[in-house]
Amino acid sequence: MNISEKLFQKYNFPVPRYTSYPPATSFYTGFDNANFVEQIKISNNSQTENISIYIHIPFCTQRCHFCGCNTALYQSDEKINQYVACVVKEIRNVAQYIDKKRLVTQVSWGGGTPNSIDLKYIRNIMAVLKSEFQFADFAEIAMECSPAYLDFEDVDVLAEIGFNRISLGIQDFHLEVLNAINRLPPKHDVAQMLRYMKEKEFRGLNLDLVYGLPLQSVESFRENIQQIIALQPDRIATFSYAHIPWFNPAQKLMDHHRFPTPEEKLKMLVTAIELLSENGYEVIGMDHFARQDDDLAIAKTNKMLHRNFQGYNTKKTTGQVYAFGASGISQLDGSFAQNLKQIDHYIQAIESNQLAVERGYVLTGEEILIRDTINQLMCNGTINFEQIAQQHNYSYEEFMKITKFDAAKIAHLVADGLVELTQTDLNVTPKGMLIVRNVAVAFDPKFEITKNKFSTTI
Ligand SMILES: C[S@@+](CC[C@H](N)C(=O)[O-])C[C@H]1O[C@@H](n2cnc3c(N)ncnc32)[C@H](O)[C@@H]1O
Ligand code: SF4
Repeated sequence: MNISEKLFQKYNFPVPRYTSYPPATSFYTGFDNANFVEQIKISNNSQTENISIYIHIPFCTQRCHFCGCNTALYQSDEKINQYVACVVKEIRNVAQYIDKKRLVTQVSWGGGTPNSIDLKYIRNIMAVLKSEFQFADFAEIAMECSPAYLDFEDVDVLAEIGFNRISLGIQDFHLEVLNAINRLPPKHDVAQMLRYMKEKEFRGLNLDLVYGLPLQSVESFRENIQQIIALQPDRIATFSYAHIPWFNPAQKLMDHHRFPTPEEKLKMLVTAIELLSENGYEVIGMDHFARQDDDLAIAKTNKMLHRNFQGYNTKKTTGQVYAFGASGISQLDGSFAQNLKQIDHYIQAIESNQLAVERGYVLTGEEILIRDTINQLMCNGTINFEQIAQQHNYSYEEFMKITKFDAAKIAHLVADGLVELTQTDLNVTPKGMLIVRNVAVAFDPKFEITKNKFSTTI
């Protein structure tokens, strides 16, 4: 694919990320534990029937200064014990409301660094999940791991517990960049580690890179991409560095370093897309890539991709997400519920025999239609207006009215060959998929161009 920098320059204006619709910033605190229980019961009769589980382990042995995740430094063993006991209690509490006939098709462990705590805790929580729920035989059990603490024996243990997917945070291969972000390098050779994981039948192996970090240059990022191609992981994520010092003040500790300019960041992204496309990787979403034989690439071809807060997945393994642990966000068909973010507040709530919901959101039927339209566009780049309207019990005319879609809103995208539009269908071209957020906003009735509210595409 020949990608022009001009395309990104032209369309690099602030639009929502659409990690969810409505975005997490619109969750409200009036949504409480009782509302969540009510929503769990409703979710038993909603689509999809499948269950996805997210477990948040908010601990890290060392905090990277660039990090934007909800993490805390590893505290005492006692604290970990207490936290894990709360996660177990929360699982049992929520599980009592879930229809036992439903199948778990996905379990994702994120953080923080789930592999920074003793794996006996992971084993314990997985055993509880297995006793509370029925698992599909094709269930994907995935963990985000830091390679700084991962040993070959840990891979053995994870395989034995039932894990079959691993994602490793690389961020950058250059030691000076890792030092600048206060991050430890991988403990073992990454190529050997990946080979070992493949031998142990792990699939969908993913490596994360971040562009826009201090001391990176276009050339050094090109080396990262070349190195990652040589490693041949199944999947690659290249995230744009998010600078959010109000959330993580530690990012200010990197202020004295030279950061890449926005122009350099753009070149890094274009380099990643071009090199990876030339070397057998499919663009899955703007910052995700998968080898052509990977499930995600196959699902993309078959228009069966889906996305949730945990990233891209296939419609086969997609489920409504029930999240456990501090800050976890449950994503049910008709609602969101987010747990208390601070570890101590979360523990306090669970230990006093309550759930730990801090805020949430109940979607109207119209919002569900808008959400599914935006998701379908962001993942699969195609909409048949009549079909999606009917799936949600609306007419074509109602669909147009609810989404406030108007062909004029995307006339410039059509003229640039990024979108094909007829009376009945909209198709985003492969090049258009790189700026698909700019297409999605045309179906978001609440979207207004407010420069400071959203991040730019890159
Ligand atoms: C929970 S971490 C992955 C697991 C493990 N903690 C690690 O660092 O290896 C999630 C990923 O989010 C990405 N990330 C974290 N902070 C970010 C930021 N400020 N901007 C962009 N991406 C970020 C990184 O690529 C990181 O690998
Ligand atoms: S990037 Fe990973 S290891 Fe580093 S602080 Fe964030 S969650 Fe922890």
